[in-house]
Amino acid sequence: MKQSYLAKHVATLKPSGIRKFFDIVATMDDVISLGIGEPDFITPQPILDAGIQSLQDGKTHYTSNFGTLELRRALGKHLHGLYGTSYDPESEIVVTVGVSEALYLALTAILNPGEEVLVPSPCFVSYPSEVTLAGGVPIEIPTYADDGFMPQPDALEAAITERTKAILIGYPNNPTGAVAQREIMLKVASIAEQHDLIVISDEIYDQLVYDAEHVCFPTLPGMRRRTILIGGFSKNYAMTGWRIGYACAPADILVGLLRVHQYTIMSAPTTAQHAAQVALRDGAPHVAEMRAEYDRRRKLIVSGLNHLGLTTIEPQGAFYAFPSIAATGMDDETFAERLLDEEKVAVVPGSAFGPGGGGHVRCSYATAYEKIEEALRRMSSFMQRHG
Ligand SMILES: Cc1ncc(COP(=O)(O)O)c(C=O)c1O
Repeated sequence: MKQSYLAKHVATLKPSGIRKFFDIVATMDDVISLGIGEPDFITPQPILDAGIQSLQDGKTHYTSNFGTLELRRALGKHLHGLYGTSYDPESEIVVTVGVSEALYLALTAILNPGEEVLVPSPCFVSYPSEVTLAGGVPIEIPTYADDGFMPQPDALEAAITERTKAILIGYPNNPTGAVAQREIMLKVASIAEQHDLIVISDEIYDQLVYDAEHVCFPTLPGMRRRTILIGGFSKNYAMTGWRIGYACAPADILVGLLRVHQYTIMSAPTTAQHAAQVALRDGAPHVAEMRAEYDRRRKLIVSGLNHLGLTTIEPQGAFYAFPSIAATGMDDETFAERLLDEEKVAVVPGSAFGPGGGGHVRCSYATAYEKIEEALRRMSSFMQRHG
């Protein structure tokens, strides 16, 4: 018998640091979880109704591999309205099973075995593993709180080899809440241009930005032709369970993504596509309402954490705060384990998000205001003992 039937590149994938931790949380009572990476809101009613209606109308079949033309047209218009992009709905947009699939398609479509992808770290847990699954090699480049967790153009450039194929970025960022600064993104763009790299830009949190501007990467000079823009409905519209997202790219790149999608997925869920179309048409006031509530919680948690001596840079996007836990002298895993054990507050160790995340923990504010208040009270007792 073979030692393992698993392919080597799969067998070597590490289990997600988040899952491991939350398997423990699930066995405990009275835990306040700041570990959640999804909206606590239920999908807004008009979007729910559209999904239900679609089922009742008997729309239970496959759609075009690309996704329905109506949704792609709505997406093209939506992105044009927000950012001035111009993607042809007929050939430059594919509807996917969440950003997760869009990411998989993008990486699988562009990577030859052994090609490298630069990934600023800390980052969404799936990025490095998805690069590995697609046959590539993730090169994680640390970012730092002192620089607002922005990618460091010099460090990116220094990591480029003849095998580098792409840069994978995600702003607003999970786990830091950092929002892309235009000057830095222009520098990233110029590196991509100079070294002929593709940029995969995950903009899933694009509408969850507070007092800041969202820079849509393909709108930077020269970037449209080398960017795969991926985005979705999970976070902006509180639709994680619907599994719906999209990828946009010039037709000669998109055709590669479509091939992979065609043979692995066929088409994104039909019900979710109809619901997503209504999200784009009627969702804006609901998004604004949820954003205002996240903003209120953001102010509470950031000032609360800083007050406790857990230094937190102001996150301008998504729904995460990423405090430094240096004041406790603990490493991030010990901090998270002890906080859970002693005060029943769950946060995610920053190192789960890559080498750049060490010494920090991720606190999600996609949870009720009152629960955040209680979590801060419990953290205050913890800090009195350990600060
Ligand atoms: C940055 C980022 N990208 C992608 C995803 C996955 O999104 P989806 O639900 O659309 O697959 C997440 C989910 O946490 C995320 O934080």
